[in-house]
Amino acid sequence: MGIAITPSILNADLADLAAEVARVPSADAIHLDVMDNRFVPNLTFGLPVVESLRRHSSMPQDVHLMIDEADRWAPAYAEAGCESVTFHVEASLAPIRLARELRKLGAKAAMGLRPATPIEPYADMLGELDKVLIMTVEPGFGGQAFLDLCLPKIRRTRELAKNTGTSIAIQVDGGISEETIERCVDAGADVFVAGSAVYKADDPDAMVRDLRALAQAKAA
Ligand code: DX5
Ligand code: ZN
Repeated sequence: MGIAITPSILNADLADLAAEVARVPSADAIHLDVMDNRFVPNLTFGLPVVESLRRHSSMPQDVHLMIDEADRWAPAYAEAGCESVTFHVEASLAPIRLARELRKLGAKAAMGLRPATPIEPYADMLGELDKVLIMTVEPGFGGQAFLDLCLPKIRRTRELAKNTGTSIAIQVDGGISEETIERCVDAGADVFVAGSAVYKADDPDAMVRDLRALAQAKAA
């Protein structure tokens, strides 16, 4: 897959989503944070908004479900045409079944982990996944400080992923900026969510290109 930058619109103008997405044409996909005020202490938007956005933007959608009962809600996002659907393993009763269902519906299957959730219990199911999303802040809000304590988990996930013989992307989410992205590349991440770093920049699209250039240089 290579290096990819997926800006999060969490801290953008949610009443003008299509225009906000249009500000980052260099993005590889747009990262959409769905929150239910149960899995995380914050509430954003759900499937109707994601579907509406599809009618106004051809940018691939990378949906991040920070919701309880992931098994029940995630497949509809794949049916709606999202390119990648991330469910949190802490919110799924049957992650293998769910990953298979997402793939069958044509989406990339991605599993998210909170900062304190270890990867090791899921080592044997990595082959069922296209991507692992490693939270590098506690999920729920944009603009938080990057947690360096997540770096060893990124490294261990990359090692375990190598053993599967398939290509698995590792996405990091939370506090990614020009200051932190290289550490994540070094640890083995290749897909980067950036919310405030992109949307607080004077030129959001230039920031997307800067972040990609930094990551590519470090990966080379
Ligand atoms: C937080 C979300 C993130 C958030 C990242 O729980 O999952 O996608 O938007 O925002 P920044 O990049 O500002 O940390
Ligand atoms: Zn996210």
